[in-house]
Amino acid sequence: MKTIYAVFGDPVEHSLSPVMHNAAFAALGMDSEYHKFRVSKDDLETAIMGARAMGFGGVNLTIPLKEKALEIVEPDTLALDIGAVNTIEFKNDRLIGHNTDGIGAVRALQLSGIIIPNSKVLIIGAGGAARAVAFQLAQNGAKVIIANRTAQRAHSLAENVKSVGDARGTGLEDLQELVSQSNIVINTTSVGMHPDIDQTPITANMMRPGLVVFDIVYNPLHTRLLTEAEKAGSITIDGLKMLVLQGAESFRIWTGVEPPVKEMEQAARTALELR
Ligand code: ATR
Repeated sequence: MKTIYAVFGDPVEHSLSPVMHNAAFAALGMDSEYHKFRVSKDDLETAIMGARAMGFGGVNLTIPLKEKALEIVEPDTLALDIGAVNTIEFKNDRLIGHNTDGIGAVRALQLSGIIIPNSKVLIIGAGGAARAVAFQLAQNGAKVIIANRTAQRAHSLAENVKSVGDARGTGLEDLQELVSQSNIVINTTSVGMHPDIDQTPITANMMRPGLVVFDIVYNPLHTRLLTEAEKAGSITIDGLKMLVLQGAESFRIWTGVEPPVKEMEQAARTALELR
């Protein structure tokens, strides 16, 4: 019998997860299917229990369910630190909550040949995405600086991240200097996202060759930040990489099989370009 996987969210219509996971199943000849379901916060527990009762292979969660899930499943340490669950593993009778968002970012950097331990990483933003990325990078030995418009949020996130590694928080005032002192810059804010595609957190004059510039925004795929980074000769990584690689980590958790990342990325990229 087919194994069913799913993403729950609200909204969930534009999720790229079905496309990339179904591409992975096809590439490996697995008799599995991945579907999206619109689930409200109030119905989350019922939906998760239903998925378990029906023998689903695994579930992803997206906005606005990731935080709520902490009360329903058993989060692992990382998901608890990040304060959000994006992957549910049905393990015998247990519901384990994982968070693969940060691992996706780390893998995206590693696939570009970047060595993370001891690298100086500037994370712009201090919201949910920044949390996942900051915890994972600090845990992997990076020296993390979190710069946020609301400095207090950056300080408070850095305090939390310090429990697993090296982190400090600051405002956006000295952004130019912070960029010049960093090896890697990651934009986790919504700046530059559709429809404000002419916006960018930093411009070409602040960047340099050799700097790694990673934008987690993937709508548009090629943000102004990445254009500015190219102008400066910096190394760029787009947000779709992180999206695909967090999905690939979910796939690995559920199936124990090495995810076919190339096929997943190709499927997601094509779907995004067709929009
Ligand atoms: P997510 O969960 O996607 O990370 P979020 O928690 O709403 O979303 O966080 C959005 C992040 O983008 C925050 O760091 C926010 O800064 P504030 O904490 O000061 O609100 C940042 N952000 C959004 N719009 C911004 C803008 N125009 N300039 C700078 N930062 C911005």
